Amino acid sequence: MKLSVDGLNVRGYEHGDAQRIRELTLEGFDGVSIDQNADRLLGIDSSPDWQTRKWLAVQRELEDAPADHFVAVLGSDVVGYITTRPVRETGVGHIPNMAVDARLRRRGIGSTLIARALEHFRANGMRVAKIETLVQNKQGQTLYPSFGFTEIARQIHYMQRLDHDERS
Ligand SMILES: CC(C)(COP(=O)(O)OP(=O)(O)OC[C@H]1O[C@@H](n2cnc3c(N)ncnc32)[C@H](O)[C@@H]1OP(=O)(O)O)[C@@H](O)C(=O)NCCC(=O)NCCS
Repeated sequence: MKLSVDGLNVRGYEHGDAQRIRELTLEGFDGVSIDQNADRLLGIDSSPDWQTRKWLAVQRELEDAPADHFVAVLGSDVVGYITTRPVRETGVGHIPNMAVDARLRRRGIGSTLIARALEHFRANGMRVAKIETLVQNKQGQTLYPSFGFTEIARQIHYMQRLDHDERS
């Protein structure tokens, strides 16, 4: 793994980071989002749109367990984030979301954030780390195995609109 950018710092999430994390989320998940696929494939064009739903999910994570998330900072700018969910009862730590500023990708920032998340899991007694990605997400499918993650399953997500009867 290459070294990360000069001056990069990783610190714990703070409440004031939320709006920047929202921007990184909406930029980063455009093209690699289950919510966006659903809007497109089901022809959903009304509010709440995929951006709103995606952000609500990330925002809930941030608010539920603020101490479990990390941001990458360059100077005073938040340039990436990672959310984590260590589950004490199972010993499995989950990484639900991460994104890096599109202008600064392929410089090791994502790798630095994953390394920080794994450190957090070990410090909290986790035995296993888990992360998911979409088949359409080439970045994830290259990055995670390179970090030692092993593919263990593929899942199909089904959805249907409830304001149409698809069977009639
Ligand atoms: C996934 C993401 C966080 C990676 O951040 P990053 O800072 O670019 O990651 P790194 O620079 O540490 O990349 C490390 C390795 O990942 C792989 N990788 C990253 N981007 C890639 C791409 N576009 N295509 C193929 N491999 C890629 C490469 O193996 C890369 O190493 P290399 O540059 O030496 O070849 C970033 O691409 C991103 O924000 N994507 C949009 C949001 C997203 O997909 N989040 C994850 C959802 S599961």
